[in-house]
Amino acid sequence: MTYSTYNPYDFANRRHIGPSPSEMEAMLQALGVASLEELIDQTVPQGIRQDKPLSWAPLSEGEMLAHLRKAAGGNKVLTSLIGQGYYGTVTPPAIQRNVLENPGWYTAYTPYQPEIAQGRLEALLNFQTMVADLTGLPIANASLLDESTACAEAMVMAKRVAKSKAAAFFVDENCHPQNIAVMQTRAAPLGIKVVVGRPDALDPAAVFGAIFQYPGTYGDVVDYTGSITALHEAKAVAILATDLLALTMLREPGAMRADIAVGSAQRFGVPMGYGGPHAAFMSCRDDYKRSMPGRIVGVSIDARGNPAYRLALQTREQHIRREKATSNVCTAQALLAVMASMYAVFHGPEGLRAIAERVHGLTERLHRALRAAGAKVLTEAFFDTITVEVGVGQAGILAAARLEGLNLRRVGTDRVGISLDETCDERVCMRVLRAFGIDGVPPHRERLGFPQPMLRDVDYLTHPVFHMNRAETEMMRYMRRLADRDLALDRAMIPLGSCTMKLNAAAEMLPITWPEFANLHPFAPADQAQGYAEVIDDLAAKLCEITGYDAMSMQPNSGAQGEYAGLLTIQAWHRSRGEGARDICLIPMSAHGTNPASAQMCGMKVVAVKSAPNGDIDLDDFRDKAASAGDRLAACMITYPSTHGVFEETVREVCKITHDHGGQVYIDGANLNAMVGLVKPGEIGGDVSHLNLHKTFAIPHGGGGPGMGPIGVGAHLAPFLPGHPETGGAEGPVSAAPFGSASILLISWAYCVMMGGAGLTQATRVAILNANYIAARLKGAYEVLFMGNRGRVAHECILDTRPFAKAGITVDDIAKRLIDNGFHAPTMSWPVAGTLMVEPTESETKAEIDRFVTAMLAIRAEIAAVEAGEIDAANNPLKRAPHTVEDLVAKWDRPYSREQGCFPPASFRTDKYWPPVGRVDNVYGDRNLVCTCPPMEDYAEAAE
Ligand SMILES: Cc1ncc(COP(=O)(O)O)c(C=O)c1O
Repeated sequence: MTYSTYNPYDFANRRHIGPSPSEMEAMLQALGVASLEELIDQTVPQGIRQDKPLSWAPLSEGEMLAHLRKAAGGNKVLTSLIGQGYYGTVTPPAIQRNVLENPGWYTAYTPYQPEIAQGRLEALLNFQTMVADLTGLPIANASLLDESTACAEAMVMAKRVAKSKAAAFFVDENCHPQNIAVMQTRAAPLGIKVVVGRPDALDPAAVFGAIFQYPGTYGDVVDYTGSITALHEAKAVAILATDLLALTMLREPGAMRADIAVGSAQRFGVPMGYGGPHAAFMSCRDDYKRSMPGRIVGVSIDARGNPAYRLALQTREQHIRREKATSNVCTAQALLAVMASMYAVFHGPEGLRAIAERVHGLTERLHRALRAAGAKVLTEAFFDTITVEVGVGQAGILAAARLEGLNLRRVGTDRVGISLDETCDERVCMRVLRAFGIDGVPPHRERLGFPQPMLRDVDYLTHPVFHMNRAETEMMRYMRRLADRDLALDRAMIPLGSCTMKLNAAAEMLPITWPEFANLHPFAPADQAQGYAEVIDDLAAKLCEITGYDAMSMQPNSGAQGEYAGLLTIQAWHRSRGEGARDICLIPMSAHGTNPASAQMCGMKVVAVKSAPNGDIDLDDFRDKAASAGDRLAACMITYPSTHGVFEETVREVCKITHDHGGQVYIDGANLNAMVGLVKPGEIGGDVSHLNLHKTFAIPHGGGGPGMGPIGVGAHLAPFLPGHPETGGAEGPVSAAPFGSASILLISWAYCVMMGGAGLTQATRVAILNANYIAARLKGAYEVLFMGNRGRVAHECILDTRPFAKAGITVDDIAKRLIDNGFHAPTMSWPVAGTLMVEPTESETKAEIDRFVTAMLAIRAEIAAVEAGEIDAANNPLKRAPHTVEDLVAKWDRPYSREQGCFPPASFRTDKYWPPVGRVDNVYGDRNLVCTCPPMEDYAEAAE
């Protein structure tokens, strides 16, 4: 049988589109429409519909994979010794198979519902413990987007917490160039003056903070204690950008009294992937914990007083604090943080130290061999990186290295850099030597490559989790146990409004681990990355066709990062026209919290626009505010279809008003799943949009990342898209790598080509069908808020739970009761407090949607019993949800049966999902913040 036996169009659709043709018939009947087209006509206003269908034909799985195989051949994977923040690493196959390739891990959502997320929360707590231990600072978060953005986050965090009121920030010139550039981009709109220089030129009184790279980008290991003490005397904040593997040998930042440490955990088992995704990290002093960006996993207790993990502190702070939020980081890099934490569990402290010793030993041998042969090695104290002055011989040595299958780093015009990693051995060193014209084996290791006082003397990873028996049997079971605690898409629908938890098809996931894609350094010469270039260009072209924009930047590695990049692009355009003073951004109150947070990062002034009672943007208010902004209007940020789940008829008007006042329209593309093939944001008035590829374009959520948020722009904005020190461009970069988390772009490309233009359009239609079907089935039981003129919702619907408040039932109670039914809760209390936003996506079958409806109707009946006083208002299945096995077997003294409590109608009997903990106490966790692994005694005590 050949692949062409399948009609690829049908096959592609049957993969991503849940309801079968006959199920669709039944659903359309329930909605009282004769066809899907009729439903779409009732839902999507005619005036905004695109006139031409998307152009490309679908490929079958086999054809898609064959195409990618060919593209992979266009990438040339040399041994990368470029370093600069990206290193070769060995992903232990046990972790590759059991985490990276396991949908139990990669299809999970961000762990906002802690009861169904204990597995990944534990793994992320391990990550935090690992980072806190290695950096010697007590508080760590659960990942940031990349090392460069982590540096930028640290810089603005320093501005917030520093007692010094100085306006400048010092950047050690030995920081990685991409880190320096991203900090400069971030600093400019905030009025922060960045001073780049040598640490001995630092004037502590002139800065609110400073960052040093440790070890430096050219390899130097320097003791920064003196500079840090001087900074502290001037009440300024000291940041070290650092390397976790080096810290297994080198004195930790905490020992030098650094206040904040940042870096990348990439070399802990996560392939380079031509730029990502990988987990960046941040750790800090205890008193800075409330200013830390990103998510922090904390330890709390559940209803029985047992320890339970949860996201702590500022979890949803963008929605609450909006433009005053500490950062716009929403999606981060959870899956990659899990991988890195498992790598530390897998190797344990001794293993990590052994790896580091080996890498360091090889570097020391290479260093001496080069010196002995007369090479001018500039680095005196080093861990794994050395820089050699080669003068006019630079091009020749780089070329000779390439002939040896090696990429060295080009440094300036007269030096080369060499970074070794865990994949290197003596033979690699011999190849390096040959590139320098030196024959022979490097000498035996003799000494430390850095001064003895820089040797670390504080233990790390002492917690038992890093000391378990590492027979693969145990490791496999540990990863399985954690995955089993969680509810991910591989078990049930995750109907999260605005998050589009669609299928991440297996065929789309395959290529990301192919070595030709996984093992490419992001700064490898362009001629070695032709395969990537081909796929990225084709994806960009398809995304342009889908959105109606003229150019794409693939740099932003999350939706929020796309917002920030898009607004910077708008600002640069205004500046180019002599209108740089435009600084007001109009944002509807219903907008996602990252919108105002991103606008604030660009130094814009956020003006909130009211919503009309039907949820639409209040057009009068919009007009007034645009008029008062006048020639200060920089942009508006709207979401389409709206965050209320409706295609607003007035969208063109909103865009026109903005343009009439000289502003630009940013359309948040998070809801693109309702538009692909039907409406193009670039044609209805948008100038720029980000696309959450981890929503509409099938990249898995990974339990809180990775993501990709490329931005599409109109032709006039194209010259102002982010640039990068490695690839050029007039503007600064927003991410560490030119194409962000490049390797997962393969997933979106595979999705687009397997669906074809018509398949993608069908997916949009079915997403709308599924949402309207839910709205119709729940009618009468729940009020569906916000509908279009013809009584239809877009791809999601908002259910009002506020009427149940009188009976004491909250939106939380319903969410937790859904867990008993084997479901992840919908999005809670956004954009309207006390509501549930349900988005089924096209991937869900009618059977699964009906199961959800059954659950919601059963819950409604339970609410009715409370309302009627038939059951205790405080002791009922809703208030006691979720129910655990412990509840089941404990003495039962509740006014409802075990059967009702534990096996509500939508739950499976054989495949029943049991949450490992009862309802988690949020307040307790915030009052008693513990964000590293608690000692084992705590578990023992709780169990007693
Ligand atoms: C409407 C909207 N905009 C922006 C974002 C931010 O995207 P990300 O989490 O990728 O940063 C989200 C995320 O849920 C969203 O729903």
